[in-house]
Amino acid sequence: MKDPFLHRTFHETNGIEEVTVKEEKNHISVKLAIGKTNTAEQMQLQQELVNVLKSHGAVTVGLRFTQLPDETIAKFQPTSEKDTSLLEDGGKTNFVAVASGKGGVGKSTVTVNLAVALARLGKKVGIIDADIYGFSVPDMMGVEERPALKGNRIIPVERFGVKIMSMGFFVEDNSPVIWRGPRLGKMLTSFFKEVEWGELDYLLLDLPPGTGDVALDVHNMIPSSKEVIVTTPHPTAAFVAARAGQMALTTDHEILGVVENMSYFESKLTGDREYVFGKGGGDKLAEALQTKVIGQLSLQQPYEEEGVFAPSVYQEDHPNGQEYKRIAAKVIANFEE
Ligand SMILES: Nc1ncnc2c1ncn2[C@@H]1O[C@H](COP(=O)(O)OP(=O)(O)OP(=O)(O)O)[C@@H](O)[C@H]1O
Ligand SMILES: [Mg+2]
Repeated sequence: MKDPFLHRTFHETNGIEEVTVKEEKNHISVKLAIGKTNTAEQMQLQQELVNVLKSHGAVTVGLRFTQLPDETIAKFQPTSEKDTSLLEDGGKTNFVAVASGKGGVGKSTVTVNLAVALARLGKKVGIIDADIYGFSVPDMMGVEERPALKGNRIIPVERFGVKIMSMGFFVEDNSPVIWRGPRLGKMLTSFFKEVEWGELDYLLLDLPPGTGDVALDVHNMIPSSKEVIVTTPHPTAAFVAARAGQMALTTDHEILGVVENMSYFESKLTGDREYVFGKGGGDKLAEALQTKVIGQLSLQQPYEEEGVFAPSVYQEDHPNGQEYKRIAAKVIANFEE
């Protein structure tokens, strides 16, 4: 196999940095240095590499990519071409993928509110609604306009200081999306490559529930992302979420922490907390994934406000809004440490 950018074998570029084999699990992990990381070409290469390794008996494969030293690139570079996509900004953007095992636990709510909280803390933030079939981000944030086009670039819609891209912008009348396979992957790629994101500190990805194709595509497309896993306190939800976490680990993504959503209901009258969906799911999951619970949200709607339509965005002074700010601060600390 060859480096997709330099068109030389990895032997020539000295690109194979590390190979580890866990025989008892048939797991192989490989660290490769290539000409350019975080690109569609890398994704293609990943796919090929996984296929080759699996055809030789590997059951699971972990891949990591780094960039070759500049001298090596300069030595073999065919022509200098400039790519202005988000995946190519020299690693300035931090990717955070929000995942869960089960549907309906609040991934999209967490994505949206974490993004808004990061923006409230002064960060430049974008969201890719990677739930191509079940998109909900525009609706949750009360976005009614569509993205504009500038030449062949798409300008994301901005709300509460967050830039948003979603399949929902390209679908008429809430009709279902019935794409599969390559078209679906292409859509995601274009969300990265054809959208004029500008400079971003954080890009959040709202993943579809579970461990299906799209989730896997996303995992492969953004090798350097960290993951937030969302669960409810119910033991089953936590158990299922552990699988999503496991997927992150096999694709060599770091788990940033667990967010427990719908943790409790607090009575406005007495202040008593009731654990409507049980207790302990977040801790259990964090333990299974060897990470921490970085936040617990109560079962509550945002305040009703006149003239502001954003059904799922908690206000800054709302208890959940405050908790999201604490979570955002932990996320920032995690990346900046
Ligand atoms: N803390 C909360 N309190 C009250 N309602 C909530 C809370 N979190 C989420 N919800 C509501 O629960 C529903 C599911 O949340 P959401 O859509 O964020 O979940 P999801 O995991 O993204 O679902 P899907 O798997 O369908 O994408 C939504 O109606 C949302 O408004
Ligand atoms: Mg969702």
